[in-house]
This record gives sequence, C-alpha cells and structure tokens, in this order.
Amino acid sequence: MKAFYGDLKLGILGGGQLGRMLIQQAINYNVTVKILDPDREAPCRKLCDEFTVGSLGDYETVYNFGKTVDLLTIEIEKVNVDALEQLEKEGVMVYPQSRIIRLIQDKGLQKQFFKENDIPTADFQIISSPQQLQQSYIPFPYIQKLRRDGYDGKGVYKALDATYLDKAFKEPSLIEKWIDFEKEIGVIVARNENGEVSAFPLVEMEFNPEANLVEFLISPSTLPFEIHQQAEQIAKKIAESLKIVGLLAVEMFLDKHGKILVNELAPRPHNSGHQTIEGNVVSQFEQHLRAIFNQPLGDTACLNNAIMVNVLGETGYEGPAIYQGIEKVMKVPGVYIHLYGKALTKPFRKMGHVTIVDIDREKAIEKARFVQKTLKVIS
Ligand SMILES: Nc1ncnc2c1ncn2[C@@H]1O[C@H](COP(=O)(O)OP(=O)(O)O)[C@@H](O)[C@H]1O
Ligand SMILES: [Mg+2]
Repeated sequence: MKAFYGDLKLGILGGGQLGRMLIQQAINYNVTVKILDPDREAPCRKLCDEFTVGSLGDYETVYNFGKTVDLLTIEIEKVNVDALEQLEKEGVMVYPQSRIIRLIQDKGLQKQFFKENDIPTADFQIISSPQQLQQSYIPFPYIQKLRRDGYDGKGVYKALDATYLDKAFKEPSLIEKWIDFEKEIGVIVARNENGEVSAFPLVEMEFNPEANLVEFLISPSTLPFEIHQQAEQIAKKIAESLKIVGLLAVEMFLDKHGKILVNELAPRPHNSGHQTIEGNVVSQFEQHLRAIFNQPLGDTACLNNAIMVNVLGETGYEGPAIYQGIEKVMKVPGVYIHLYGKALTKPFRKMGHVTIVDIDREKAIEKARFVQKTLKVIS
C-alpha cells in the first residue's frame, strides 16, 4: 500500500458536510483527496485536490472516478454499488466494503441481518405491496419505513390507525413496532483491516418530532454504566460480524424497560459524532481515516462534556442563507461554530452545527439551549 501521507489518492463519494469535515482531518495527514458529487455547489467543492461533478448512482461515473484513486470511501450510502464491486475486483480498495454498503442501503436487509445475528431490534415485517399492509401482524401504532433511499426522517411515517393505509408508502418498505423509547442513544465504532476495534463513548440524542432528525446531542451519556457497556458490546459485535473497515454508526433506542434495541446503521461518519471534533481525543473523522488506512485506532476518550446542536433551516424561509444571532452565540465561551457552506437554506436543511463544551454538564446544556433559540437560519 502506498503511504497515506504520500502518493496515495483517496476518493470520497459525496461532497457534503461529512466529506468536508473528513477533508479537514485529511489535510492534517497530508492526504490527497478527490471528491465526486452531483452538485457543483457542494460543500467540498473548493476544499479538495480535485472535484468531479457527476452522479453517484451512475455505474460508469462511479467506476471511472474509482479508477483514478487508490482507496475509495463514502460519505453517503446512496451510491452505485455494482461499480464499487467491480472496482474491488480490479484492485481498488473500497472501505467500507461494497457488500456492507449494499446491505445497509436496504433497511429490510439490515433488519434481517440483525435477526440472523441475534442483535436486539424492534419487531418488524417486510412489506412488498400495499395489500400486505392490511394483513400486518404488527398492531397499530407502527412505523413504516421505505426500504431504500430514506434519510433524515424522510421515508419514515408513524401509522396511528387504519386511516393511515390510504396514505401509506407504496414502495417496498418495512413496518416496525412503535417503540415508546426512553432515549435515543448511539455508539460509533471503528474497525481497521488488522481487526482492531474501538468504540466512542455512548451519546444521547434528542430528535425534532416534526422532522425526525437529530436536533440536540449530549456526550458522554450519563446513563448507568451497564447501559454504556451493553451498547458498546452490541456496536462492537455488529462491526465484527460485518468485518467492516471504517466507521460504523449504530443508532439505538433505550426502551422503558431498560432494554437496548438497534434502530439502524450507517457505515461512515455520522451526525451523532460531530461533537467528537472538540469533545474527544480523536474525532470520528480522524478515526475513519485511521481505520481505512489500516493505522492504529486513536483514543476515543471524552475530553469534556460536549453538546452538538444541528443548525437547521428555519421553516418559512427559502433562499440565500443568513445566520441570524451568530454574533450573540460567538460571545459564549466554549462554543464552536461549523457552517457547511451551503448557499441556499430551506426548512430543516442541515446548514451547520454548533458544539458546546463545558466542564459543567448543566452549564453546557444551558448554553446549548441558548444557541438553539438564538441562532436561526433565515433568508
Ligand atoms: N420503531 C420505532 N419506534 C419509534 N420511533 C422510531 C422507530 N423507528 C424510527 N423512529 C424514529 O424515527 C427516526 C428516523 O428513523 P430512522 O429509521 O433512523 O430513519 P432515517 O434513515 O431517516 O434516520 C428515529 O431516529 C426515531 O426518532
Ligand atoms: Mg436514523
């Protein structure tokens, strides 16, 4: 293998905010980065060594891009996996491996994988036609999820009663038992080719009920030690059964009985790990690079309480983004602003995030609430 800090060329499929933060670390490691993204205005456009505009779903585009690099990784799962498989055959390193991306692209296959590997998860049923929904053996309320292409809560609906059937998704989907959870929690784990596995400490998340996406995240969690241990064990077990190379974000629910259920996986840096940039010894981005370059994994320990607030486009505004209140927020000590360089805002679009660190957890929460109500993306 070429030295990662030398001649090696790293390709990233996707040039959004995750790619952008990966590049920030890649610079420290002196890695040459090429990006493929369909949007010529993507957040990474000005930050990489080479930016190619092209479809991530198109076989030829992904294949041709892959042929120009030594190692290919992703910042989004929705990519052409057939092209990745061919590239692997031809000797390009693809991490995470194409078979894992294929599995994770399909929430139905993911759930089956959990079942086959004794990973605790909410009961589910795979649905291939609207008729099948009427014979569901999961009682209301349940949640219907598109098998493919859902993200940030798009592709997820709660079905309260039979009136839902008219507006239900028609595409292949799955229905899942509604979990009246206590908390959403997450563990990000990394594995390198040597088989070394390392997990970041457990985090707790709060979701926006309207948009179903993370609004607020606290690291580390203050849940009991046994919950930390169990969650970490589950995440490591999944990484090991998959033999993944790279990061794996494991989203979980803690139910009212103290039981952990795995919700879904993401084989890449994840929104639930942004706080690691300021809050932990290594960031998730650095850890991903260490893993895919088969280097020793870094120390995941927390340095401080860290809270991450997503900066979402305000409802009612669409157009060139204005960050109202940014000055007030920047006055607060321990506040780190990350803007993703997206020119246009729209409701609930992820425009940036803010990390707040404080040695006093309650103070950190107080500051985060202030950031949440003060910083607005309008137009
Ligand atoms: N079985 C469930 N019971 C209750 N809430 C759920 C369930 N599944 C998902 N949700 C809620 O919907 C959110 C989005 O669902 P998820 O499957 O993670 O889709 P996405 O790909 O959009 O992240 C979850 O983070 C959680 O808040
Ligand atoms: Mg999710």
